[in-house]
Amino acid sequence: MDLISLSTVLKDESRIKSKPRPYFNHSVEFKKRFTKADRARVLQEVGLNVFFFPAEMVTGCDLLTDSGTTTMTNEQWASLHMGDVAYGSNRGYFEVMRQVKETFGEGFFNPIAIGRPNAFLFHQGRASEDALFTVIGKMGSNFIIPSNGHFDTTQANIEANGMIAVNLFSDELNDDKSNFHFKGNMNLTKFRELLKESSDKIPIAFITITNNTGGGQPVSMQNIREAATMAHNYEVPLFLDACRFAENAWFIKQHEGGYDKKEIKDIVTEMFSYVDGFTISFKKDGLSNMGGGLFLKDDGIFVRRYPHLPDKIMNYQITTEGHPTYGGISGRDIMSIAVGLKTVTNEDYLENRIRQVQEFGESMVKRELPVMTPVGGHAVYLDVNKFFDGTDMRPEGFGGVSLTALLLANYGHRAVELGYFSFGSCDVSTGRDIFPEFNFVRFAVPRLRYERQDLESVTEAVGSLYDEREKIPQVRVTFGRDLPLRHFKAKFAFENMA
Ligand code: F0G
Repeated sequence: MDLISLSTVLKDESRIKSKPRPYFNHSVEFKKRFTKADRARVLQEVGLNVFFFPAEMVTGCDLLTDSGTTTMTNEQWASLHMGDVAYGSNRGYFEVMRQVKETFGEGFFNPIAIGRPNAFLFHQGRASEDALFTVIGKMGSNFIIPSNGHFDTTQANIEANGMIAVNLFSDELNDDKSNFHFKGNMNLTKFRELLKESSDKIPIAFITITNNTGGGQPVSMQNIREAATMAHNYEVPLFLDACRFAENAWFIKQHEGGYDKKEIKDIVTEMFSYVDGFTISFKKDGLSNMGGGLFLKDDGIFVRRYPHLPDKIMNYQITTEGHPTYGGISGRDIMSIAVGLKTVTNEDYLENRIRQVQEFGESMVKRELPVMTPVGGHAVYLDVNKFFDGTDMRPEGFGGVSLTALLLANYGHRAVELGYFSFGSCDVSTGRDIFPEFNFVRFAVPRLRYERQDLESVTEAVGSLYDEREKIPQVRVTFGRDLPLRHFKAKFAFENMA
């Protein structure tokens, strides 16, 4: 019997549950050693603000963000050498143009020669939000910008330009018992009402895929399609905040009827076919360490309704970032974006990526830690209120901040509070805290960076803190309670401690 026949008789790899990763390490970096005492001292010095804690001292997993933290592929590293740093029309610009058209659709990147600029590169996502909302904000007053969930920088850029950011979370997002796979959806009932009452005040609407503020939950194709139809009935352009577009497409393929046989690439182009433009940070699903952009659909409602805005955006881009053909990104980084965008829709990559985050979340569930389920695409979200349920922790004691500080000091893992402190605010006139709907600590998983054992160690550490949750004190805000984007700057001290 030859090997080929024999191999069909014996069982094969399809029955093995632990799938090997579809890649191997290309280069690794050893961590330095720091003790719990070193970490505690330094974290205390920076007022318990994990953003100011030196990354080099994170001896466990750095789950502060999945943004700009991707381990690049060998093709991306090679592409850096192929990039040039010309001030005008570097090679990467043409590569990115080709790839953006291929990934998102032809109409999102006009060649300069045709005189209808619609693709604007920026150094990261929030710079494209800044440009967009600056030009929109100047068109009128009392504007409202609805979304299924604005991220903090998006909300801040909207508010900085005198507009109101409104989050229309789905009902399922608030329902722990629900196993609905698209909890990130826009609440279409509320969206319809808002459009009916105030469409003249809505210059643009947004859907964030996946919904980072709403538990990292995906949005269904049906929701994007219906939201677009509703918005378009009122001539309101609909945009995607597309940071995690490939991860969102993966969930559509897994869980939405009729999409299981479709290729991710086709799902992505369909998602973008319904909208009039998008902002993106290439630091997430661009698999790059830098870059962002704003893209307007050539025949979309945005450019038809506001034909004067693309030129204003370009002027803004030139003044703040650079020539439209590089826009604040180095020619080398642009090359890595073109390659990253191509890789990110690879199904082996995505399957492995999402599976890792799911398994991480499931390990927390198994440990009886109160995390949001179903688990989303890029991160696991721990419900702080449930974590501290039955203890003396009060909302204004910001338990999420205490928890992240202790996780970093005692176990060396860095997470981030995205809840009552980060998304809350302080009413200066009354001194009262205003709390948002959700109170999470987020464990964001960088792409292609960690292995299962790393994440299992995080679950163990959080589990151990959970067992001792009675002993976790509240924090007092010693600086920055009333500042905008306060979580990036604030300082804290544990209650009853100097
Ligand atoms: N939109 C969403 C949904 C985001 O998650 C982010 C960044 C941005 C816009 C802004 O992009 O950082 O390139 O300026 N999110 C990161 C995070 C920082 O940790 O979730 P950027």
